[in-house]
Amino acid sequence: MNASSEVPVVLRRGVRPPSGAPAQASMPLEGPLVDGYGRVHTDLRVSVTDRCNLRCVYCLPEEGVPFLPRAEILSFEEIARVAGVARSLGVRSLRLTGGEPLVRRGLVELVRQLSTVGFDDLSLTTNGTVLAPVAAELARAGLHRVNISCDSLRPDRFAQIRRRGQLATVLVAMDAAEAAGLAPLKVNVVLISGVNDDEVLDFAAFARRYGRTVRFIEFMPLDAEGGWRRDQVVPSEDVLARINASWPIEAVKPSEGDPAPADRYRFCDGGGEIGVVASVTRPFCGTCNRLRLTADGAVRNCLFSDDEVSVRTLLRSGGSDEDIALALRRSVWGKLPGHGINDPGFLRPSRSMSMIGG
Ligand code: 5AD
Ligand code: SF4
Repeated sequence: MNASSEVPVVLRRGVRPPSGAPAQASMPLEGPLVDGYGRVHTDLRVSVTDRCNLRCVYCLPEEGVPFLPRAEILSFEEIARVAGVARSLGVRSLRLTGGEPLVRRGLVELVRQLSTVGFDDLSLTTNGTVLAPVAAELARAGLHRVNISCDSLRPDRFAQIRRRGQLATVLVAMDAAEAAGLAPLKVNVVLISGVNDDEVLDFAAFARRYGRTVRFIEFMPLDAEGGWRRDQVVPSEDVLARINASWPIEAVKPSEGDPAPADRYRFCDGGGEIGVVASVTRPFCGTCNRLRLTADGAVRNCLFSDDEVSVRTLLRSGGSDEDIALALRRSVWGKLPGHGINDPGFLRPSRSMSMIGG
């Protein structure tokens, strides 16, 4: 019997993208940010820089990374303005991403500005390499939570996957984040078949030991080198089966109105939680509520769509808040039903993860 047939848990969602024609005919000019398929958008991801101090194999090439010119990057004031307009359109959570958001100088000041906008959830995704010294300051400025990426618990392998930086620094950052109250802490693990998928149980044990939610993310075709292959994807279903065989797990019912992409599971013995992000094998496009703002001021409605609406031009040419609102509405309205990774004609997006923000 193979492991997966023993799993009493099934992936909760696997929500197929809506099919057929859009449910609505024309873009509403008031009310929440809704797309043509009725999906309401309440989650904004803001990439504050395309720069990063690491070169993870699933994201950036080792050498020769072209970065955006400084003048093209939105200022903190510009970002806060767009965030305020998004809030007025019903966006309730904001996550700062990069590149590595903490390599942008003065990020604490941006957090301070954003905390006055009044989001229910203000969080940050970071590689954890430069977090420890600023964790307390970020929390004081109004940050609620952090997700820290860490793809191996073995120092040599960590170095092989991330090419720069050290595991020890990231582990210290996890402690610092928790000590500062940036909790509950989530740890993002991108699994690549034959590279780190033998660490699934080590990570599950780590989650149990520290009470941190480890989220296993399927490798997506967003690496800058274009090296992604389907057979490198470790299906979330297999991950769950392996963990369940050692420590039984059960699905956590998503809370009302929580379309977070991770499927959550708890250890039946009360040992904490894990999650899986099955973007490739079980796309969750059907409940997607996210929109993105890139560091250079483009609004994107999907990681995988190159359809961008620029707000930078509006911001820098005297555009009103209504103009910005309209740009956000247009972007969301133009969202396709699904990312199509599994379609024969799928084309990789032209920007890599570090350019869009995770
Ligand atoms: N596939 C899946 N996840 C990725 N990330 C970066 N590139 C990829 C990829 N190709 C993750 C990082 C981080 C988040 C921002 O996105 O590990 O957790
Ligand atoms: Fe940097 Fe994150 Fe990309 Fe790794 S995944 S290179 S930490 S932006």
